[in-house]
Amino acid sequence: MKINEFKVETWMTDHENDCQYNLTETCVSSLSLSELQQFVDENIMETLMSMKMDYGPIVGSQRLKKAILSLYEKGNEENITIAHGAINANELVLISLLDSGDHVISLFPTYQQMYDFPRSLGCDVSLIHLNEEQGWMPSLDDFKKVMQKNTKMICLNSPNNPTGTTIPLSLMKDIIALARENDCYILCDEIYRGVDTENEVMFPSFSDYYEKAIVTQSLSKVFSFAGLRLGWIKGPKEVIDLINYRRDYHIISSGPMDDYLACLVLENKESILKRSIDICKQNKKILQKWLDQEPLVSCVIPRHGTVCFLHYHIDIPSKELCEKLQKETGVFFVPGSAFDTEYHLRFGFTQDEKIIKEGLITFSNWLRQYDHQSIDIIL
Ligand SMILES: Cc1ncc(COP(=O)(O)O)c(C=O)c1O
Repeated sequence: MKINEFKVETWMTDHENDCQYNLTETCVSSLSLSELQQFVDENIMETLMSMKMDYGPIVGSQRLKKAILSLYEKGNEENITIAHGAINANELVLISLLDSGDHVISLFPTYQQMYDFPRSLGCDVSLIHLNEEQGWMPSLDDFKKVMQKNTKMICLNSPNNPTGTTIPLSLMKDIIALARENDCYILCDEIYRGVDTENEVMFPSFSDYYEKAIVTQSLSKVFSFAGLRLGWIKGPKEVIDLINYRRDYHIISSGPMDDYLACLVLENKESILKRSIDICKQNKKILQKWLDQEPLVSCVIPRHGTVCFLHYHIDIPSKELCEKLQKETGVFFVPGSAFDTEYHLRFGFTQDEKIIKEGLITFSNWLRQYDHQSIDIIL
């Protein structure tokens, strides 16, 4: 199976450990087990120390599935299975449902797995190019234009990495109606769901509105526990059965420790999500204040998720800019080129506000070599 390089992941691996100001992180500042302990009554260490290290519940414990279902309006245990992060959840959905020759629709720019993984399976992929002037939002017409008789799946990521765009409920319903007419699946990677900085209410999930919707999520981003490598899939029972059949070849289980700790994280989701919302809200304010003062960068700041896509206005390719910037100042971004979209940088609202402030000021000082203005940024 031939597959294209996963550009954003390669970039992160090669650059993230060698920076002073990580302004591109997608995971809200990660939590430790002792921080988790502060949210719960039971003694975590005691439970872990006495835990038998067998495979644990193969497709996830009942307790974990119940905790996952609390994030949705509908569904029961047979609609859920567990994966190694959302990356494995997406992969399991795609390999279980797609065959060579199937037609797939995906957004662009988005998480590369959504279009290049189906391509690697021999699928024919139509891309909907998102437009910054439209707030990176697709329209129903965009979907109608690319829909075909043999469209098997619409692959979405909402909120989207790298733009942060979230498909509103009205458009969600229109896309569902179109998918239903064509009897096609919708896969929505909802890994950034749960952080709404205007209204602290869980945004609707595709899986609660469409009988052929499959959604994926994990603890990595809004729950601050990427290290658990714990993700899940919610979908129709027959799809979950198919995935479980495949899954035996891939992961067997996610292990009893991860299963147990994931229960604790999700059973305390209100406190953890509140923390994430507060961090993102504060960093969005800082970013907006910075954008108001920085003439060489613009951006549509999204309401949901943990990232946005900065547009810079100097004539230098994004990979070159990022490499030079990181080497000279320690400021780290993922370049737009990792999403095949030039003159952009992915920004994350996720880190300590001190890092965000100092990083943005350092970036502005560095940018002055391109316009020779004298600007005193105050954040
Ligand atoms: C849209 C999207 N899906 C999946 C993943 C992988 O997440 P996980 O850590 O849950 O495997 C990422 C990570 O950046 C992502 O941005």
